[in-house]
Amino acid sequence: MSKINILAIESSCDETSAAVCSGGEILSNRIATQAVHAEHGGVVPELASRAHMQHIVPVVDVALKQSGLKLEDMNAIAFTQAPGLIGSLLVGGQFAKSLSLALNKPLIAVNHMQAHVLANLIPADKPSFPFLCLTVSGGHTQIVKCVSPTRLEIIGETIDDAAGEAFDKAAKMLGLPYPGGPLVDKYAKEGNPDRFQFPEPRIPGYNFSFSGLKTAILYFLRNAGTAQVYKEEFAASEAERQRFIDENLRDICASIQHRIISILLNKLSRAAKELGIKDLCIAGGVSANSGLRKAFKEMGEEKGWNTFIPDFQYCTDNAGMIAITGYYKYLENDFADLSVPSMARGF
Ligand code: KG4
Ligand code: ZN
Repeated sequence: MSKINILAIESSCDETSAAVCSGGEILSNRIATQAVHAEHGGVVPELASRAHMQHIVPVVDVALKQSGLKLEDMNAIAFTQAPGLIGSLLVGGQFAKSLSLALNKPLIAVNHMQAHVLANLIPADKPSFPFLCLTVSGGHTQIVKCVSPTRLEIIGETIDDAAGEAFDKAAKMLGLPYPGGPLVDKYAKEGNPDRFQFPEPRIPGYNFSFSGLKTAILYFLRNAGTAQVYKEEFAASEAERQRFIDENLRDICASIQHRIISILLNKLSRAAKELGIKDLCIAGGVSANSGLRKAFKEMGEEKGWNTFIPDFQYCTDNAGMIAITGYYKYLENDFADLSVPSMARGF
């Protein structure tokens, strides 16, 4: 039997991406990022939809050319159905539906969060089932138990902010541009993670919370590091706060990052221990964080667990992960019809 070829489209937030997968191997993964949001300090949904409209044809075109395959060679068209910005999802969804209709090929609707997890099935060295995946993105923080590529169970999640949001909000308070996560990562590399102490919340089970950390950082900065983090008397002047940030940026970033990582990995390690699962993965935009990648590997080595991390290009939003998920759904004949709705929420 010839290989199953899937063309996949991702447009849930501010990356327009297309990928081609053949027999479970990714042949191309093109990603157009949208620079237009940086000056607004966050993603502007209407601008994102418009940018997807501009990017989608050239991105699909280049992904196909790079794969060496043609539209007619595809067995199915996969797209991100949910969750995400509704206008952005609709652009990719309508494009995929039009292709499916015009080519008379089946349509596969993919959940973005499942796809982040399955990015771990892209490399040749794959985790064995069941495995646990810590999915950390701009909108989600989850521990997922994966019984098979299509049987995923969320066993823990954030009760307020997501890990990526914690990075981005901390960065904003430090005056760094959006999205601040990668910049906190960059400065943290040269800083002392033990210099400042931020609190670790006590949340039951495998759930997470980052809102307390956010408040602690806010008070800490308003007091220019002089007072206890929870003390609500703002002693420092604006100039003192700015000087404090300028002089200590690297240590502040390293200390915040250190706490976010310990919150994440303490819960993951507890779940692995209690469930007796030895294959662990991380996924989502925050899994691009160099401190998290390093601490996750070290945790695995120390405890004798197998750790897996997707390649950088498959950590942040990309169509490669939609393609691999589409491939496994194809094997199970899990197709959608043209009336399938795009959904802002889901999973
Ligand atoms: O998965 P993703 O690309 O989009 C969503 O589905 O949300 O994740 C984006 C998030 C942003 O919050 C961004 O700041 C964060 O991932 N991120 C990072 C790093 N690279 C991306 N956070 C910390 N360190 C990084 N190196
Ligand atoms: Zn994502």
